[in-house]
Amino acid sequence: MAPRPLIAGNWKMNLDREGACTLARALAPSVGAGASFDMVVCPPAPYLIPVGEVLEGSPVCLGAQDCHTADAGAHTGDVSPAMLADVGCRYVIVGHSERRADHREDDAMVRAKAEAARSHGLIPIVCVGETEAEREAGRALQVVGEQIAGSVPDGLDGTNLVVAYEPVWAIGTGRTPTVDDVAAVHAHIRDVLAAKTPDAMGVRILYGGSVKPANAVELLAVANVDGALVGGASLKAGDFLAIARSAPVRH
Ligand code: PGA
Repeated sequence: MAPRPLIAGNWKMNLDREGACTLARALAPSVGAGASFDMVVCPPAPYLIPVGEVLEGSPVCLGAQDCHTADAGAHTGDVSPAMLADVGCRYVIVGHSERRADHREDDAMVRAKAEAARSHGLIPIVCVGETEAEREAGRALQVVGEQIAGSVPDGLDGTNLVVAYEPVWAIGTGRTPTVDDVAAVHAHIRDVLAAKTPDAMGVRILYGGSVKPANAVELLAVANVDGALVGGASLKAGDFLAIARSAPVRH
C-alpha cells in the first residue's frame, strides 16, 4: 500500500518572526486530525521555537532546513541535530541543492547528516536532483541514482526516512518536469532504495520544484510520488493548504 502523503514546507531564508508565527497560526487549525496527509513546516532556525509554540498540539510537525553532523562542539554558526530535537523538531531537510551548491555539501556529508539526524530521533528528508545540464545530457536518472546511493543511509525504513526529488532547474523557476519524467525518476529512486532498505515501498518520495496549487493535483497523482516539498508556495497559507488538499487520499 502506498504511504500516506507528506506535504513539507521549506520556508528557506524568508519571513520574520511575526510572519512565521502568523503563517503557522493559519496552518495549525486548518489541518484536522482526520486529514489524509501529514504536514511539516521548516522555518528558518531562529524561528523554530516560536513556530513550534504555535504548532503545539496541532498535527502540523516542525522541521529544520539543515543540521550539522556533530552533537556539539566548535562549529561556529552551525546547529546540531541534538539541538533541533531539543526544540521539538521531528524532521530535518538534508542535502537541499541550495546547501549542496552554497556550502559545497557532497553525498558523503549529506549521508553523515542524515545519520546524525537519525541518532537523535529526527526524520531526515534527503534531497536529490539533477541540474539542467545533466538532464539535457540524458543523465538525470544516473545522477539521481548516484545521489541516492551516496546520500541515503542504509537500514532505514518508511517510519524514519523521507526522500525528496527536486530537479535543480525546477526550483523557484516556475518550470516543472513532465509527469512522465517525474514518474521515471521516482520509479528509479524506488528501485535504488531497494538496495538500501527492505522497506523501499514504505519510504515517502516527495516531488519538489515549483509545486503550486495549479499543478499539485497532477504532480501528486503520479505513481511513486508520496507528497511534495514546497518552497515559494509554502509561504502563503492558502496556497500551501490547497497543495496539501490536492494529495490523493490513501488509507
Ligand atoms: P520552490 O522550492 O517550490 O520554490 O520551487 C522548492 C524547494 O527548493 O524545496
